[in-house]
Amino acid sequence: MAVTGCICFNQTFVEVLRTARKFSCTNVEQLQSHLEISAKCGLCIPYVQQTIETGVTEFAVMNEADIQYYSSRAGEVRKGGRE
Ligand code: FES
Repeated sequence: MAVTGCICFNQTFVEVLRTARKFSCTNVEQLQSHLEISAKCGLCIPYVQQTIETGVTEFAVMNEADIQYYSSRAGEVRKGGRE
């Protein structure tokens, strides 16, 4: 099954990419100023970051190394937003 979005906030990576490009966001922290995302379970954070960096909007489940790499580039991701 492909990973295509943030389930907790019902946001697709297509929407992530559109918003990130519109506001020139370079990480998840910046994106959260414009889109309610990644603030609950946090499992989507590395995928959202990779979407911002590469433009890819559909993924296989990431390996641990990629999760660590992209999570480390996501900035100070805010938690506890509304669903
Ligand atoms: S899947 Fe994005 S915060 Fe849970």
